[in-house]
Amino acid sequence: MPTTMRINGKKYQSTAAPGSRLLDVLRNDIALKGVKEGCGEGECGACAVLVNGKLVNSCLIPLGQMEQADITTVEGLPADSPLARAFAECGATQCGICTPGMMLAATALLAEHDAPTLEDIRWALSGNLCRCTGYGRIYAAVAQAARGAGDE
Ligand code: FES
Ligand code: FES
Repeated sequence: MPTTMRINGKKYQSTAAPGSRLLDVLRNDIALKGVKEGCGEGECGACAVLVNGKLVNSCLIPLGQMEQADITTVEGLPADSPLARAFAECGATQCGICTPGMMLAATALLAEHDAPTLEDIRWALSGNLCRCTGYGRIYAAVAQAARGAGDE
């Protein structure tokens, strides 16, 4: 029996086995390559997506749990949002492996806090590892996006 989901606003039915990792369905079956595989063990956040607005690591989620779920990958975020602009302007991306998960973690944060503190930002992104940036530019980007979103 297929699994029916809404992915980036579009209905999608997957006939993959219910035990398939959501990560593999998104990357390999639907070609949403913004969903990255890092550790494959729930430790790095590279594969993070939003499921019903909550940040989850898609490497740990079996497809069978996604019936009627509303899933957002980085491809579903607005390309010219305050967050996307802030990541570019702050130089918050280097190799880019962590960036989709970081942006989705930030999206989940900003949906709940329009004026997050640095501690809020650090906490919200604490499950997302970056090997390149030292985090400072990423935190600055999220803070800038919060200010920008408040101005719009
Ligand atoms: Fe899923 Fe690292 S690949 S948490
Ligand atoms: Fe390379 Fe974060 S930019 S892992």
